[in-house]
This record gives sequence, C-alpha cells and structure tokens, in this order.
Amino acid sequence: MKKILITGALGQIGSELTTKLREIYGTDNVVATDIREADSPVVTGGPFEILDVTDYEKMLMIAKKYQVDTVIHLAALLSAKAENNPQLAWNLNMNGLMNALEVARELDTKFFTPSSIGAFGPNTPKDLTPQDTIQRPTTMYGVNKVAGELLCDYYYNRFGVDTRGVRFPGLISYVTEPGGGTTDYAVEIYYEALKKGSYTSYIAEGTQMDMMYMPDAVNAIIQLMEADSEKLVHRNAFNITAVSASPEDFEAAIKKQLPEFTMDYKVDPVRQKIAESWPNSIDCAAAKDEWGFEAKYDIDKMTTDMLEKLREKLG
Ligand SMILES: NC(=O)c1ccc[n+]([C@@H]2O[C@H](COP(=O)([O-])OP(=O)(O)OC[C@H]3O[C@@H](n4cnc5c(N)ncnc54)[C@H](O)[C@@H]3O)[C@@H](O)[C@H]2O)c1
Repeated sequence: MKKILITGALGQIGSELTTKLREIYGTDNVVATDIREADSPVVTGGPFEILDVTDYEKMLMIAKKYQVDTVIHLAALLSAKAENNPQLAWNLNMNGLMNALEVARELDTKFFTPSSIGAFGPNTPKDLTPQDTIQRPTTMYGVNKVAGELLCDYYYNRFGVDTRGVRFPGLISYVTEPGGGTTDYAVEIYYEALKKGSYTSYIAEGTQMDMMYMPDAVNAIIQLMEADSEKLVHRNAFNITAVSASPEDFEAAIKKQLPEFTMDYKVDPVRQKIAESWPNSIDCAAAKDEWGFEAKYDIDKMTTDMLEKLREKLG
C-alpha cells in the first residue's frame, strides 16, 4: 500500500483507520472520502473529498486524480439501520461495493472491504463458528455481506483484483460513535457508565456475541493488507474476533472499575432477533495461520482503556 483511497472515512472505523494510515504511510498518501463533511481530523488532517459511493464516475475520477494503488471501501449501512430500510441498504451496500470493485479493476489496485459476523445466520454453528460454514443470514445486512464476500472473491478469481476482507465482530471505540449496528450497546454502556452510573441494555441477558476493540481492528486491516498474497488461502473474508461477551460480562468488567455501576434490561425485539441469529464466538484459526492475526485487548484491558479515554473525552 502506497497511496490509499478510503470511502466512508468519517465512520466509526474510518475515523481511526485514516489517522493510523496517515501516520504510517504519510499524510498525503491517504485520501479520505465520505458523503458528508464533519469537524474531524479526517477532513482537516489530509486530503479529503466528498464522495457518494453510488456515483461511480466520481469515485473513478478521485482515484485517478490521486493515482491510488489501494481502495479501502468502508461506506455501508449497518445491520440495525439496514433492517429499517432494506432498499436503501441494498443500493448502498451492493451498488457502492460494485462501484468500488470496478474502480479497483479499472486501475488495478489492491482492495479491502469488511464483512461481518452478520454474514452468518440462525443455522450456522454458533460456537467456534468455522471459517468455512453455512451462511444463510436472515437480515438484509447479512444478505449484503454474504453477496459482498462472494463478489469480492469473484473479482479476485475472474479479474485478478487483489481483494481481501475480514468478518468484523462488534467494534468498540471512543473516537466516533457507532453507526447503527446490533452490537452498539457495548459502546453505549461505557458512555452511560460514566455519565449516569447505570445502563439499560436493549440486548437480553445471556446473549453472547463477538466483539473487538478498535485498535485491534485497525491493526488487523493493515496486517492483512500487508500480508504476502501467496500465503492467503482464503480472501473474503477472514473470521476475526477478540472477545465473546454478553451484556453481563460488560457489566462485570465495568464494575471492577466502577463498583457502583448498575444495569437493567429493556430488550429491543428487532435488534435482539438479529443478535440471536449471529454466532456466540467465531474461530479465527485461518486468520492466525494465513497472516498472523492476533488481538491484544481482552475485555478487561479494553474496559480500562475505554473508560480512561472516555473520561478525557467527556471531561
Ligand atoms: N462498526 C462495526 O461494529 C462493524 C462490524 C462489522 C463490520 N463493519 C463494517 O465496516 C464498514 C464500516 O463500518 P463503520 O462502523 O465505520 O460504519 P459507520 O456507519 O460508522 O460509517 C459509515 C460511513 O459511511 C458514510 N456513508 C453513508 N452513505 C454513504 C454513501 N452513499 N457514500 C459514501 N459514504 C457514505 C457515512 O457518512 C459514514 O461516515 C462497513 O462495511 C460495516 O458493515 C462494521
């Protein structure tokens, strides 16, 4: 990776990935784009262009202008929002991806886009979910992610585009608030713990899902993109995770640092149904074997860092 174009760069992942990539590859070599502007270092700290990913011509024009050799495609509608507007989700998640892949094919660039644990469904094995397994998701987001994985593999096999991806679990971070996924509770809980000392979870007690702290997610993207192509047996997309946790696991981790913290439940049936269709814990053996994936943050280390960084942020 020498010159990188990022779509959806103002989102939860992009806002941290852009900064990290600019540190490593040089400010001018990381071109951030998003459909909107914001008061963010992503916009002020290096090249930034407004780009709607459903506009193929503009995406191609920007990629040519900066002569990029890598496309990191992040713009998407996340699981809970996609369930509320499946038609918009299809248009953004599928046509946006197709445009980004076409730009990569046209300009012969490397390509990364994230899949998700949402690419699994109710009849996928729930514990230690294998890399290669049944993928029959019941959400629009999941349908988009499975189709996206297949489309990226197609572009690799058919056109030789160097496509790579991971199936991210729920991502926890403090820089930018999450964009409407099912695992957002695991971010909200930290904000509320500090602001109110209590949290009402919309996910039911005992519901386990995979999670990861953002620094591990950002490192995973960079490590996979820098991995030796010949070592990759899989491509789209690798299972990766750091923590398999339920709401009460977060409660316990927060209580170690804020003993007065309390939690209760008011379950949201839409997001609960999505959560129940996803794995409890996924197996990352392929990512470890093929490109050395390793997460550094467990739930306690993540909780310590989240609370410290959020205290600073919230004053
Ligand atoms: N955050 C997670 O927990 C998580 C987990 C698994 C997979 N993922 C995947 O990672 C990718 C990025 O996720 P995120 O959490 O950063 O998302 P996000 O919702 O935080 O950010 C998405 C960004 O895309 C932008 N966008 C929306 N419509 C656009 C359009 N038409 N053109 C250009 N930009 C547009 C938004 O303005 C936003 O800044 C997505 O593919 C998502 O499915 C995220």
